Amino acid sequence: MGGEQDVPLSLARPDIGPEEEDLVLEVLRSGRLSLGPMLERFERNFAEWLGVDDAIATNSGTTALHLGVRALCWGEGSEVVLSPFTFVASANCLLYEGVRPAFADIDPVTLNLTPENAAAAVGPDTVGLLPIDIFGYPCDMPGFESLAEMKGLRILEDAAQALGAIDREGSRVGSRGNLSAFAFYANKQMTTGEGGMIIPRDPAEAERIRSERNQGRAVDMDWLDHDRLGFNYRLSDIAAAVGVAQVAKLDLMLAERERVAEMYRLALGEIEGVELPISGKDLERRSWFVYPIRLPEGCDRREVIERLAADGVPAKAYLPCIHLFPHLRSLGYGEGDFPVAESISARSLALPFHTSLDKSGVVRVAASLERALGG
Ligand SMILES: Cc1ncc(COP(=O)(O)O)c(C=O)c1O
Repeated sequence: MGGEQDVPLSLARPDIGPEEEDLVLEVLRSGRLSLGPMLERFERNFAEWLGVDDAIATNSGTTALHLGVRALCWGEGSEVVLSPFTFVASANCLLYEGVRPAFADIDPVTLNLTPENAAAAVGPDTVGLLPIDIFGYPCDMPGFESLAEMKGLRILEDAAQALGAIDREGSRVGSRGNLSAFAFYANKQMTTGEGGMIIPRDPAEAERIRSERNQGRAVDMDWLDHDRLGFNYRLSDIAAAVGVAQVAKLDLMLAERERVAEMYRLALGEIEGVELPISGKDLERRSWFVYPIRLPEGCDRREVIERLAADGVPAKAYLPCIHLFPHLRSLGYGEGDFPVAESISARSLALPFHTSLDKSGVVRVAASLERALGG
């Protein structure tokens, strides 16, 4: 007899309902599918939720980051410091503009770049810092701001994984007045299918970003009129409609993710040797993006993944260190350069994580993991 145990769980799953469907239909019926009122509404509502003056939607987190790099005028011959324990787009957005990613090692608990390691990586060509809030854990932005001020650097925060996180001074991640970027791929805290958002620091910067997003056309210019190099990084109004519905229920979705994380903490806490992610420290609060555990030292992760898969429990080796990808190795990076990041990366495993995961699902994952580890 087949039962619940036979149905594979999902690793990630967007939270989409009638609100998204209604707003998408509204756009389809309006005939304004691009650069229409829904895009403006999405940007306004998102900015209001985050507590900032302005927000500019793009068609991915990567393109938001790319426009951020350009707005900061980072270019050929310069270097920007970042962690290698991230998604590859954090470094690719620099490479697009000829900027060299200067990697530095991470903290073993928060898994984020530390201001101390970043300071040690600052050299004569360094123009900026690109801190990342990995797995939704807020990076030490006050520390990076001090370092930036001391060394005359600028900051682009990659907050793609951290919408809703709170930093150690109580600020919402992405709201501190640095340029910051979010991403809305379908596995994120909120989604537009594909999409991103960049938070500008001032109106002049916002104007440049909006123009470059739209083929180098200023907002007051006619179609087919362009006064600078630009890109097509526009988010459609169809996707923006999904975004409007998602922002309206964002607090609820974040709370649901926290509930699932707490169930995992209770269910996995007893499994020997497995390290769980921290939810916060003092004022710092993680926004739960994924549920990344660390397997015991010396454990064969590939075998654990196969055993979990046999129980219908998908799990992913997450994240690889990006300095070991061929196009970044070719800059001179290799094994052993960042021991903390490499050792964490080798033991990290992301478990199924989304708002529709219930207690029986979490218990099933925990039981399967215990068996997979030979418990
Ligand atoms: C840390 C980080 N930066 C950037 C991105 C890029 O976002 P997108 O996939 O929307 O281009 C992601 C996506 O997962 C990410 O995790």
